Amino acid sequence: MKEKRDTFGSKLGIIAAAAGSAIGLGNIYRFPCMVGENGGAAFILIYLLIVICLGIPIMLSEFVIGRRSEKNLVGAFKILAPGSSWTIVGYIGVLCALIILAFYSTVSGWTLEYILKACTNYFSGKDINAIEQGFVDFQNASFRPILWQIIFLILTAFIIFKGIKDGVEKYTKILMPALFVILIILCIKSLTLEGSSEGLKFLFKPDLSKIDSKIILSALGQAFFSLSVGMGCLITYGSYVDKKDNLKTTTLSVCLTDTLVAILSGIIIFPAAFSFGVKPEAGFGLAFNTLPMIFDQMAGGYFFCIIFFVLLAIAALTSTISLLEVIVTFISEEYKIKRSYATILGSSCAAIIGILATLSLRKNSILTLFDKPLFDNLDFLTANIMLPLGALLIVFFVAWKMKKDNFYDEISNNGSLKNGIVNKIIFFIIKYIAPIVIVLIFINQMFLS
Ligand code: PHE
Repeated sequence: MKEKRDTFGSKLGIIAAAAGSAIGLGNIYRFPCMVGENGGAAFILIYLLIVICLGIPIMLSEFVIGRRSEKNLVGAFKILAPGSSWTIVGYIGVLCALIILAFYSTVSGWTLEYILKACTNYFSGKDINAIEQGFVDFQNASFRPILWQIIFLILTAFIIFKGIKDGVEKYTKILMPALFVILIILCIKSLTLEGSSEGLKFLFKPDLSKIDSKIILSALGQAFFSLSVGMGCLITYGSYVDKKDNLKTTTLSVCLTDTLVAILSGIIIFPAAFSFGVKPEAGFGLAFNTLPMIFDQMAGGYFFCIIFFVLLAIAALTSTISLLEVIVTFISEEYKIKRSYATILGSSCAAIIGILATLSLRKNSILTLFDKPLFDNLDFLTANIMLPLGALLIVFFVAWKMKKDNFYDEISNNGSLKNGIVNKIIFFIIKYIAPIVIVLIFINQMFLS
């Protein structure tokens, strides 16, 4: 029997769900990490350029493919390019979703541990060394990180289980605005700390001489990872969008909100870090070691710390939901399996790879490749290789296979929405600029660095 497909119940539903996918650990923990490692403002400048010039057109392309086909990631390419090998793009996307979900759930699990630590006032009175040691001990613990990871995956599966409208839409609609309010409060707090202006300088005063091919590739990977583009996540969400919704304004709202949240979390973390003398290259430690320590030294820090890690967990959850949704829609539609079984299957596969990623971060773990933990390899493989490659194939597909008229029909809701010149510019970017820029960044990184 054919299961009836859900759609999002309101315009806000799709914006909230897509923004929920985009906003996550990528903005609040990975973005500051990347900014810190890649020299601050110069990285942000390139990041913003990439979001505007590539991120927006690519996201729109994904929505177009999704809504036009009303299918899962692989089914979409089967319908729009029957009998061709374009379906491979769909399979790569599903694989990418699985890998991201796997290592993403590792860090998502940490947020739960840290909520507990914050509630029990664990950080109180500890210095940075003690907190760092606590983090290392936690990562090396035999089963706590895995337990939290599994709990997080079960939570994700539970929401997916309830279906796209009752699950995804309902939860993200409540969670996203809450997230925003908490971020603003934290921002104000951070900016009023003594010495915070140094952090702002680091964030917003670019040293252009720092720009090199590594920074550009990292910015590209970070932008795609943060916007959730390049693996077809938004093709799946696009397939649930109502035919009357305006895809262009939806795309703009999602890109804008995502970028705003990334910049806000930069404004939360760096001024505070500088104010307390914490190095911007602290990596994982920037969020997980430094912030609790900073909170501990602030008035009301106990509550701010809890709020922050709850915020991180919520942001992560709305992203893991979107990743699992890609896998579940694919399994259930392509193999005609009930959504509930597909959910169990998908989350179990993610759990297996995810546990390996978690174990790879333990001291002396043998799960390493190129001298780096499996975790780092999965992160690099997806963000810096698979997403840009997927994005390249997606824009290629829209420009050369779907054709201009179909694209225009879709973004103008069959002609009922106008603004011709904007549409032309977008299509020009999709057809020429985006592929050339992505290829150049790849070549630059591989051969010229
Ligand atoms: N965009 C999410 C984040 O910033 C991560 C993600 C990547 C989610 C790709 C879905 C697809 O955390």
